[in-house]
Amino acid sequence: MDHIKNRIETLREELNRHNYNYYVLNSSQISDKDFDMLMKELELLERNFPQYDDSLSPTHRVGSDLTKGFEQVAHIHPMLSLGNTYSVSEVDDFMRRTRQQLMGEKFSIVGEMKFDGTSISLIYENGRLVRAVTRGDGEKGDVVTDNIKTIRSIPLLLAGEGYPEMFEIRGEIVLPWGAFDRLNEERAKNGEPLFANPRNAASGTLKMQNSAEVARRGLDAYFYYMLGENLPCDNHYDNMVKAREWGFKVSDVMTRLETIEQVDEFINHWDEARKELPVATDGLVFKVNSLRQQLNLGFTAKSPRWAIAYKFQTERGLTQLRYVSFEVGRTGVITPVANLEPVQLSGTIVKRASLHNEDIIRQLDIHDNDMVYVEKGGEIIPKITGVDISARVDETQPIAFVTHCPACGTLLQRVEGEAAWICPNKYACEPQVIGRIEHFVGRRMMNIDGIGEETAVLMFNQGLIKNIADLYDLKHEQLVVLDRFANRSANRILEGLAASKSVPFERVLFALSIPYVGETTAKKIVRTVGDIDRLMAMTADELTEIEDVGVRIAESIIEYFSVEENRIIVSRLREAGLQFAIAEDVSEGRSDKLQGKSIVISGTFTHHSRDEYKALIEKHGGKNVGSISKKTDYVLAGENMGPSKLEKANSLGITIINEGQFLEMIDEE
Ligand code: IVH
Repeated sequence: MDHIKNRIETLREELNRHNYNYYVLNSSQISDKDFDMLMKELELLERNFPQYDDSLSPTHRVGSDLTKGFEQVAHIHPMLSLGNTYSVSEVDDFMRRTRQQLMGEKFSIVGEMKFDGTSISLIYENGRLVRAVTRGDGEKGDVVTDNIKTIRSIPLLLAGEGYPEMFEIRGEIVLPWGAFDRLNEERAKNGEPLFANPRNAASGTLKMQNSAEVARRGLDAYFYYMLGENLPCDNHYDNMVKAREWGFKVSDVMTRLETIEQVDEFINHWDEARKELPVATDGLVFKVNSLRQQLNLGFTAKSPRWAIAYKFQTERGLTQLRYVSFEVGRTGVITPVANLEPVQLSGTIVKRASLHNEDIIRQLDIHDNDMVYVEKGGEIIPKITGVDISARVDETQPIAFVTHCPACGTLLQRVEGEAAWICPNKYACEPQVIGRIEHFVGRRMMNIDGIGEETAVLMFNQGLIKNIADLYDLKHEQLVVLDRFANRSANRILEGLAASKSVPFERVLFALSIPYVGETTAKKIVRTVGDIDRLMAMTADELTEIEDVGVRIAESIIEYFSVEENRIIVSRLREAGLQFAIAEDVSEGRSDKLQGKSIVISGTFTHHSRDEYKALIEKHGGKNVGSISKKTDYVLAGENMGPSKLEKANSLGITIINEGQFLEMIDEE
């Protein structure tokens, strides 16, 4: 029996390690299939030998659909909030105040992201997760351990060593933007109300009674505060570094700062850079690093004196709705737009805001002439976030969605399972036709210099082009007579068109405006299919074999090529010399010299960039992985390889090669 117990333990350890690599480090060292096989083996063993079951086994992360109310418990330490500020100068004041309170003693500050989710308190005993509790009212909260266990980036058993026998760690449960968008898309399809933001979605999900559904939604968690008797270090930063070693996700944004200038710089940087993060954030948090100094500074009734939150500006304006217009996009989707009494927001005047779709209008319950709140969030287009009902004039009517296309009058259709209404008149509805031309010439598509939105409209209105294929028949003499056109701009367009003939097939495919075929999908299709003849001949079943292509995309592709007009456009573009097959040089020079080899790249290089080395590894059949493990075959080391990586590679006996040796291996100069 011992060998069974050992096997179970090995499997758990391996699966925990892979979970950690995947969910915390974002670098997987194993294929999904191999992972599933290990998981299946463990499930089978646990089922057959229930005496070895453990509630913290990785098999228990899938959740169950048992429903039960949540038990409530008191927090060991009350969960306080943070003092908020909205300006850099108030943060500077906090720094000065802290210096004074510490009687001039030196101190350092840790700057962190303020994650916009819902807070959680986890209790660990002897390295095992024993309880997860929501903030609740700050004094007591709901026990949501089963739901928390479904979040793969949260360690159930701690790795490494040096953790106290018992401690508490706090963090934020978040729903990353990608998962949030997916969830809302799905809810729109099912006619369910949408979540207004990832924070509501995260807290709603955490309180669900069905942990199997929680598991499916893709929550994640970042940790930022450790409490307990025997913490490993005497300062916050080092404790969080330890937490990272034990398996928690601690944001890389966390930085030690010494001076007011560094704090201000940190704010300036993240005010902008946070928009690139995969999760919603609503500010920054600054904490005094030393635990002794924290103790010294203490708490007010509501919040610690040793920390402060700086909130990002989401300036909100209140203004009157003038009317709602309905706009037709290139794919025929009708977007409702709120036209507003102009209002000043974050330095610009806002006159229009998106209302997204019919569901959002209904959810906001927006009426004619309502006073509405407008916000400029991370997105460029401002949005309406609410209605001031108290200012509503009696007997105004709710905004009704149009029934017919505002451009061509065709009866709108609601796509099954989607929130959007579309105009089905694809080939004659003007904004759709012009929209496709504008898309085609855009930077990420054919990138045709000299044709912007205005020029496309002008050429269409003058009857020079009716579709994208007509662009390649344009003559110099037709262009120079256009309004405000001169020789130079005409030449620029013709040169732009000529240059677009070498744009790779994947961008051409994206440029065609086949509904649902976005940039990434186009890439995947082209890499799998190779050329347009094969693509046009494929059945729906064959198409869905392609990674990321579902039934909806497959049907859309088939429908596109079933329309004669589209087939003519494609054949005319082909005659004009556009690329309709994958470029030779991508597949050229491929080899299997590195077949099956896992290679870690570290440091900086002189012959190629890191990205180029990554591409070279893949081109020769190898796999570029993020971190060193015993499965790594080589470390490709450049200048300044990190000492910890070097040590790890040496301790695992992994071969370290330099640029020259690598290039020799693949026979390249
Ligand atoms: S520290 C005693 N750090 O913001 C102080 N909180 O207004 C404990 N939050 O309830 C909190 N990111 O939900 C801290 N890096 C961070 C944070 C953070 C988000 C949330 C947390 C807390 C609220 C305080």
